[in-house]
Amino acid sequence: MAYEMSSGIAAAKTQVPFEAEVVGRTEETPSVFTLHLRISNGNARKVYRFLPGQFNMLYLYGAGEVPISIVSDPEDHHILHHTIRAVGRVTNAMAKLRQGERLGLRGPYGRGWPLAAAAGRDVVIITGGLGCAPTVSVINYVMRRREQFGRLVIIQGVKHAQDLFWRKQYEAWAQQPDTQVLLSSDEGSPLWPWQVGPVTVLFEHAHIDPRRSIVMMCGPEGMMRAAVKNLTQLGLAETDIWLSMERNMHCAAGHCGHCQFGPKFVCRDGPVFSYPEIKELFGIKGF
Ligand SMILES: Cc1cc2nc3c(=O)[nH]c(=O)nc-3n(C[C@H](O)[C@H](O)[C@H](O)COP(=O)(O)OP(=O)(O)OC[C@H]3O[C@@H](n4cnc5c(N)ncnc54)[C@H](O)[C@@H]3O)c2cc1C
Ligand code: FES
Repeated sequence: MAYEMSSGIAAAKTQVPFEAEVVGRTEETPSVFTLHLRISNGNARKVYRFLPGQFNMLYLYGAGEVPISIVSDPEDHHILHHTIRAVGRVTNAMAKLRQGERLGLRGPYGRGWPLAAAAGRDVVIITGGLGCAPTVSVINYVMRRREQFGRLVIIQGVKHAQDLFWRKQYEAWAQQPDTQVLLSSDEGSPLWPWQVGPVTVLFEHAHIDPRRSIVMMCGPEGMMRAAVKNLTQLGLAETDIWLSMERNMHCAAGHCGHCQFGPKFVCRDGPVFSYPEIKELFGIKGF
């Protein structure tokens, strides 16, 4: 294909994957790994840009294609990091990829986190399990522009203590000024120095000023439903709560309807939504 694109959005319009090389990989847990990818074509690599909260479609020849969030720092767009849990056909095949091997990449897709609305406000990041992946780039974004935002509160819950990866990263963020990091695990362990219980147990320890805060959340929908309830009880406006949703995807460009969530397409209108945009259906378990 011709690499005449001038932005990542133009690349997305072509719907044709670029070839990307695995230039490194990190084992996060026995079932979670991070692929460090470089788009092979130098011109395409130069113009590729993404915003925090967007995702790429990763395509493995002979296996299939899946949407995966971009974990990288948006300013470091030459190497794209994707943290993946091996759960099924495609992701299990991707788990076998080694340095030097290649796959297809198209994107970036979707609407990312509301960075303009967050300017000047306290930013509260609430994640469960691998839901932390789509928020890492927004944390990096805020860290690089600290003077443009208020307090940064990072809240992450996991099921088991051994599920926590990026432990060093959380510890490093906790050392930054005006930053609070709170971690919880559903199950305690002698090696778990933080809170035990669902992620919502952390809310009473979090410095959340409901008038100043904007919340960005990603994780299992049950966890997000409980968190939204707690946050609105704390006095947060529904319009200040933003959620990243996951649905099965096919085209990623608003054509096929695979990712439909009522009248919305998660690939095109999301994956990040304000709570009022999806409130009606989000309340229905299993929808
Ligand atoms: C916008 C967006 C961003 C995302 N970002 C990330 C990310 O950063 N990292 C990440 O890891 N994932 C992410 N996902 C989820 C990821 O796309 C899915 O995990 C992936 O599509 C699964 O594809 P698969 O072919 O490996 O699994 P599939 O084979 O499609 O399986 C999917 C689910 O079905 C279950 N399943 C599979 N086979 C069976 C079976 N035989 N019987 C019963 N259950 C079965 C699996 O346990 C799994 O939960 C994201 C999704 C979206 C929409
Ligand atoms: S994946 Fe095709 S419309 Fe969203």
